[in-house]
Amino acid sequence: TALDLVIRGGTVVTAADSYRADVGVRGGRIAAIGDALTGAETIDADGLLVLPGGIDAHVHLDQPTSDGTVMADDFASGTRSAAAGGNTTVLPFALQIRGQSLRACVEDYHRKADGRCHTDVSFHLIISDPSPQVLGQELPALVRDGYTSFKVFMTYDDLVLNDAQLLDVFEVARRERALVMVHAEGHDAIKHLTRRLEAEGRTAPYYHGQAHAQIAEREATHRAISHAQLIDLPIVIVHVSGREPMEQIQWARARGLKVHAETCPQYIALTADDLRGLNMDFEGAKYVCSPPPRDTDSQAAIWQGLRDGTFDLFSSDHCPFRFEGPADTGKNNPRARTSFRWVPNGIPGVETRLPILFSEGVSKGRITLQRFVALTSTNPARLYGLYPQKGSIAVGADADLTLWNPTLTRRIRQADLNHGCDYTPYEGLEVTGWPVRTLLRGRAIALDGVPMAEPTGTYLPRGTSEAFAQAGHGLAPPP
Ligand code: URP
Ligand code: ZN
Ligand code: ZN
Ligand code: ZN
Repeated sequence: TALDLVIRGGTVVTAADSYRADVGVRGGRIAAIGDALTGAETIDADGLLVLPGGIDAHVHLDQPTSDGTVMADDFASGTRSAAAGGNTTVLPFALQIRGQSLRACVEDYHRKADGRCHTDVSFHLIISDPSPQVLGQELPALVRDGYTSFKVFMTYDDLVLNDAQLLDVFEVARRERALVMVHAEGHDAIKHLTRRLEAEGRTAPYYHGQAHAQIAEREATHRAISHAQLIDLPIVIVHVSGREPMEQIQWARARGLKVHAETCPQYIALTADDLRGLNMDFEGAKYVCSPPPRDTDSQAAIWQGLRDGTFDLFSSDHCPFRFEGPADTGKNNPRARTSFRWVPNGIPGVETRLPILFSEGVSKGRITLQRFVALTSTNPARLYGLYPQKGSIAVGADADLTLWNPTLTRRIRQADLNHGCDYTPYEGLEVTGWPVRTLLRGRAIALDGVPMAEPTGTYLPRGTSEAFAQAGHGLAPPP
């Protein structure tokens, strides 16, 4: 029973502890945690943190856009980038196109992903067409096959569900014990503000931030919470941008409702002013995402929420569109020059998520190391049905480990990144703390920011979310 690999002398960090220990790996799993372990191979981790591999529970890869814009990352480049950034698992979306069978959609994404992934992957299902067939047959069967989370949208013309449809999906999710992620922005309010801004000639990318007002996000957040309460369903409000929607989540929690929340790097490292670009010019398109970054007051609220447990999850919402072409299909397309309405929504960030939260959070003393691990690995594993195989450092778990140098200071540079995008919204940001080695089931998938050539990731069917088991948010046990 010799060990294949020993990671020697590092500081092991979990969501609960940090302590000096050797970590022994056998057959791709953690086989021992102890002192003076020996194995066939040894990695010296002296001075390094040994973290459970990052789990990015919100990334978009190879998703088609209704206007024909091609995403900058497919499953190969997106997962290479993820690995270089210290992640061992990512959860991209399988997006149902209206009229499409959900099963056909899932098979389509398997074809895109199979054999090409550098991290492990598992799909959330985006439900854009909750037909009787989808609700009655396809969703229940897919949940049983391990697709245990859905995303629904309250805005975007080609994805928006009305309240009746949201309630229908929620009801199926409760019955099948699937976790629903909600994109909470009020569609009609955004459309109204967009038309008004355009009529006033306010068409620069900056005005995207005004059209996607925080009030519209707050209203939709409350509406999603109310619908979930009616159905008695736990939900996740994803990409929460600021103080107003946070207050709704806190309101719900105070009443015992099972509402979980996610936030993202753009809400701590960017503000609405970034959308101004150089002088209200088109450079601002590089920062257009939904919900958009807010102000410094909201940033402060987000930090408080990361500390106090308002947020369970810190994900990238990696959604990369090139700034230049190709063939005018990126951010900088001719139609987008006429109005912010046509700028593809989304920014890259799968490779920079962990360094940004570590540096701005742990290195600057805003959150603890344990909280960092909880937000970026343990909680996503628990909420999305991957625990205890993923998300912790424990005997029996997959040997998904990120060796982290907590004192290495670097500047984020597009030239150093591995994504398919041609810019980073965080260009020049100085960060302290960097992943120096990423191991997936004991094998290196990235070294010093360089991904390995061979894709060794696998697809992960998932179990039921712990949101259905945890006491304390007031959910009645299912009948
Ligand atoms: O602007 C964003 N975030 N685009 C990605 C799609 C989404 O809503 O998460
Ligand atoms: Zn969204
Ligand atoms: Zn929670
Ligand atoms: Zn997203």
